[in-house]
Amino acid sequence: MISNQQKIHEIIRVNHAGEFGAKVIYAGQMAALKLKKDHKTLKIVEHMKEQEDVHFDYFDAEIRKKKIRPTVMQPVWRIGGFALGFFTALLDKRAAMACTTAVEEVIDEHYKSQLNTLEKEDELKTKIEKFCSEELEHRDIGYENKAAELSYFKPLTGFIKATTRFAIAVSKRI
Ligand SMILES: [Fe+2]
Ligand SMILES: [Fe+2]
Repeated sequence: MISNQQKIHEIIRVNHAGEFGAKVIYAGQMAALKLKKDHKTLKIVEHMKEQEDVHFDYFDAEIRKKKIRPTVMQPVWRIGGFALGFFTALLDKRAAMACTTAVEEVIDEHYKSQLNTLEKEDELKTKIEKFCSEELEHRDIGYENKAAELSYFKPLTGFIKATTRFAIAVSKRI
């Protein structure tokens, strides 16, 4: 059986990786939207990116404070996440929004399952609750901006969800 401390460290490491992924996905989308001069969508994505920065900064500070090793996959997530955001946004703004709904739905499941395992009402739990509600806000922004109107919404989000779940599973372990 793993100790409580190990469990907490695993939670912080995987969330650090996840929020890092979210940051780079949105950064990739922003780069493509700037290229396309789509300032309207850019503003929407910028708002979500700013919230991801706050999420990431919390786990980043925790990782340093508790001397937890970040996932070794970070360089891979950096490139993969950025590319995912960049190409979906380049393709179609609705594809960028579909990327958001897919990722945020998986992150919501992920955070909810963590919240179920955390008994103590401490700072970590409160932060995860707050971040989770913001991820759901991001998901809603995706749907409000016509993510599901994309003709290839189902296959695209299926692929992104599978990739996100895979990245979570890997980041928990290594
Ligand atoms: Fe986040
Ligand atoms: Fe988010």
